[in-house]
This record gives sequence, C-alpha cells and structure tokens, in this order.
Amino acid sequence: MSKFWSEIVWGLTPYVPGEQPKLTNLVKLNTNENPYGPSPKVLEALRAETADSLRLYPDPNSDMLRMTIAELHGLTLNQVFVGNGSDEVLAHAFQALLKHDAPLLFPDITYSFYPVYCGLYGIEYQTVPLNDAFEIRVDDYNKLNGGIVFPNPNAPTGCLLALTEIERLLQANTESVVVIDEAYIDFGGESAVALVNHYQNLLITHTLSKGRSLAGLRVGYAVGHADLIEALHRVKDSFNSYPLGRFAQAGAVAAMQDRAYFEETRQKIIVARGYLEVELQKLGFEVLPSGANFIFTRHSQRDGAELAARLRECNIIVRHFKTPSRIASFLRITIGTKNECQKLVNALKEILEVSNLQTLI
Ligand SMILES: Cc1ncc(COP(=O)(O)O)c(C=O)c1O
Repeated sequence: MSKFWSEIVWGLTPYVPGEQPKLTNLVKLNTNENPYGPSPKVLEALRAETADSLRLYPDPNSDMLRMTIAELHGLTLNQVFVGNGSDEVLAHAFQALLKHDAPLLFPDITYSFYPVYCGLYGIEYQTVPLNDAFEIRVDDYNKLNGGIVFPNPNAPTGCLLALTEIERLLQANTESVVVIDEAYIDFGGESAVALVNHYQNLLITHTLSKGRSLAGLRVGYAVGHADLIEALHRVKDSFNSYPLGRFAQAGAVAAMQDRAYFEETRQKIIVARGYLEVELQKLGFEVLPSGANFIFTRHSQRDGAELAARLRECNIIVRHFKTPSRIASFLRITIGTKNECQKLVNALKEILEVSNLQTLI
C-alpha cells in the first residue's frame, strides 16, 4: 500500500489465476489448458513471423484474423472484435456495454473475474443463484437489469445451457446486452453464434486458449451486432491500439484455419472426459454433467481441500475453490490426455484406499 496509489486501487480485489508451477514433472490439471500442443500449422506460421518485420507495429485492427473468424462463423468483418485473450475482450465489454443504472446480473457461482471487472469499472451487480443442481435458470433473470453475463458452459460447474434457453433469455431481455462467454463451447455445446444476426443485443466471447491450445499466445474474440463491436473498438483504441502482436495474429489465423486438427484434439478430450466421469463415479464421486474441458466433482465422504492437497503430494494439481461455501467440497479437474486421466484415477484410488484403511484401524 502506498500514498502514491490512485484512490480506486485501494478498493480493488484482483482476480487470482490458477497456479502456473515452475516444476515441470507435474500432471497439471488446474487451469483448463489443452493437453495437446497447438496445430503444427500454428508453429509454422510463428516461425515465418520471426523476421525483420518485427521492427514494425502489427496491424492495429487484426483484419486478417478478424476476416478468418468472420468467414468461419458466416459473419462480416464489422461483427468481429479480437483482443489479448478473452479476458481482455470481456473487460472491454464490461466497460463498453454493461455499465448502466440497473445492476448487471450474473450467476452466484461463475467465472470469478466478473466481479473483479465490476470493481474496476464501478459497475453495480447482483448475483443470481444457480438452482440446486448447479444450473442456470433463465427465468430467474427476468428482472430489471443493466446487462446479463455468464459462461456457457458455466465455469467452474461445466453445466451447459441449451440454445433454446438462451433464445428464451434474449426474447425476455431486449433492452440490455446479453454476453455469453463461450470459452468452453468447443467441447460439446451448441454455440449461440447462430443467433447473432437475430438479436442486436447479443455479444458472444470466445477464446483460442482452450479448444485451440493457445493459452500462451493470448487471443480471444467477440462476435455480435456491428454497433456492439464498434463500442468495443472505441474502448480498445482508448486503451491500447495494438493488443495483438504479429505472432498472436499469425498464430491465431493458422489455428482457426486448421479445422481438422481442432476436430481431432477436441474429440480426444471429449472421449477422455467420458472416461474420467465413469471412473470417478466408480470411486464414489458425484460428477456434474460437463460440456467443458473440465469436470466439477465432489466425493461423498472426502473433503475437497484435503483431496486437492493429497493429489498435490502425488504431483497432480487440480483446482479447489474455498468460496463460496456451496462449492467448497468440489474439485475442478481439467481433462488431460487419457494417460494423465489414468494417473489421476490411480492416485485417487490410492488416496481413498489409504483413507479407508485409516478409518478401519
Ligand atoms: C469462463 C472463462 N472465460 C474466459 C476465460 C479467459 O480466457 P482467456 O483470457 O485465456 O481467453 C476463462 C479462462 O479460464 C474462463 O474460464
């Protein structure tokens, strides 16, 4: 703390990202990264970018990338915005579109960056409780609001909302912006991008960090009505004209174009998720139905924090959230390769067996 701080800094409660350990021998299942490397075509594109042209600023509007994304989704260039990770895209959306007199609404259990943006930009918000099955109920959002935002599938629960429900939400909320954060939609959900041309208040954010294995490159994007996208550009160009460097733009274009690699890796993850769900259930875990590259699970008898600590001793890291208390018994486990999932299952078998023996003695 310092007397030199601007007043707003005193009141900030920053987001705490999952651990990025320095050790390399860990099975890392804590931050929902893709266990497979990026497409070889991405690496080729990055190598080609290592050139004298690095002395020049990149294209400030990332036109080539935006065009590639637009074509992929059947949209136009002015319906696409790109940023330095979808976190940055979301931050701009909060500032550009979600600050109004009425409170912004989002679920009580959701991506914990949302309240942080509200704190940063002075946005009033209200949380809407998930139901007992940890699902979003769209009827609960039928109240005065200055905007609505949630991930689909939700994080950290992994639960998916059907497209028909999202459409019902949009029909009931025509006067405020609805942001659907589709960071994890690549793993089995139905994207709301199909609705963009029908609802001028719908903004959808995507990331290349998960489905496209590019968390290290930092690229995310938003699609929506051209007026919403213009608002994002106004904020971006009042903040940083060049959020995406030459590497990020070139790598992202190659990743979006390599559909075959994307399909192959996401299918492997969906299959491994099915395997993990079944194996964990056999061990006495409840697993929430997941449409994401992670699962949210709790054991009928063991404490979440204790299990996370025991797994860490076996060099496996998963994510545990202490708050809110309603989810303190859960673990959020990223889907790794089949081999990593097997290691996790074996470690849990051992941990649970040893604990059972201790209870018997
Ligand atoms: C729900 C959700 N949205 C957005 C993000 C941000 O992703 P990125 O900034 O890597 O694009 C994450 C990251 O884990 C997330 O879980």
